[in-house]
Amino acid sequence: MAPAGVTIIVPTFNERDNVQELVRRVSGALEGQDGEILFVDDSSDDTPEVIRQVSLTSPVPVRLLHRDDPVGGLGGAVVEGLRAAEYDVCIVMDGDLQHPPELIPDLVGRHAEGDADVVVASRYIGGGDSGGLGTAVRFGVSRGATLLTKAMFPIRLSRASDPMTGYFLVDRRRVDPAALRPNGFKILLEILVRSDVRIAEVPMEFGERLHGTSKASFAQGMAFLRHLTMLRFGKMSLFAIIGGIGALANLGIMWALTHMGVEYVWAAVIAAELTIVGNFILQERYVFNDMTGDASRLSVRFAQSFAFNNIEAALRIPVLAFMVETWHISSILAAAISLVAAFFVRFMFHSLVVYAPRRAVRKASKQAAAVERERERVHAPAPDLGARSELGSEA
Ligand code: GDD
Ligand code: MN
Repeated sequence: MAPAGVTIIVPTFNERDNVQELVRRVSGALEGQDGEILFVDDSSDDTPEVIRQVSLTSPVPVRLLHRDDPVGGLGGAVVEGLRAAEYDVCIVMDGDLQHPPELIPDLVGRHAEGDADVVVASRYIGGGDSGGLGTAVRFGVSRGATLLTKAMFPIRLSRASDPMTGYFLVDRRRVDPAALRPNGFKILLEILVRSDVRIAEVPMEFGERLHGTSKASFAQGMAFLRHLTMLRFGKMSLFAIIGGIGALANLGIMWALTHMGVEYVWAAVIAAELTIVGNFILQERYVFNDMTGDASRLSVRFAQSFAFNNIEAALRIPVLAFMVETWHISSILAAAISLVAAFFVRFMFHSLVVYAPRRAVRKASKQAAAVERERERVHAPAPDLGARSELGSEA
């Protein structure tokens, strides 16, 4: 186990004019405790030289990890920092002093209370402030993105008012770096969504950038939307394929039954019941297979899924009948239309309710896994470079 203390991870991209002041203020904030500052630098200017200069006179150890191949951008830099940190408790902060180093003792103190693995410096809780964001547009975009993100992960992020901030403490024993797919700016979101961590927050005042310019851009915004979509709907594609197979089977069964002379409403009911069961089996096996660890909940999941799909069928089939009776289209076509509409509703219900993360249960198993990982980390060789190229492929 690493010694007690804290590593301040600072990702930098062309921050030469901010380094000295940052090191001065972080050193002040770290006074009286073990710590180090670890710059993970992707700069194209002389920031690395400045960091080396400043490290010569700094009261706390300063390390520089310069990357010639900046895989994963800002998020990739943070993950490299977590790997290379001297201490298990790490604080990630920007290198432009928008994140007040004076908050470090608050973050460390909150973590020391022992009930949180991640402590977020939030701009959105009592005493927090995001004035430093500058323009109203930037503020609006930031707030909107936060609300959208929270809507996507209502359960996981229920205790995180500011999942997009770049200022947070993380106990790296509780995250699996291999599970992270950093991709630009939103590394905290990545950590919160991909590992089961207990979250606490402290208020922060987001300051003005000291020198230089922000690297946030329209392209970063687009990358974020893609990132969010992947995080939330990565399974959507699989779910869609199975849903598609189910719909085709449904239509095939209906077609066969109506041709055998079964009344189309009954044919629709039978086709619906058969595909409900078939879909559930395929879903368990292929779509949500990483969330089905708890076999005792299989019957609960089936009950929820079965109930939902029957309610859905009870709403869908009358609509289908309505289309047949008033538009005089074929019952197969009407069924196809109704199935497409029902698909989206079904995915939302399954991902938010049936396969929603179950904190209590997962926490216990995660805890066991964390202990196991700790054991591995002590004995295992350093993580190999294969992991890096994997991170890069998502960038
Ligand atoms: N190593 C590395 N590689 N560092 C980078 C990179 C990169 O590709 N891109 C940016 N950085 C560093 C910057 O040098 C700075 O220290 C920090 O990451 C944040 O970059 P800024 O350009 O200052 O971003 P911002 O102020 O617009 O955005 C900040 O606030 C957002 C909240 O609105 C960041 O903290 C975001 O993560 C945060 O979401
Ligand atoms: Mn900034």
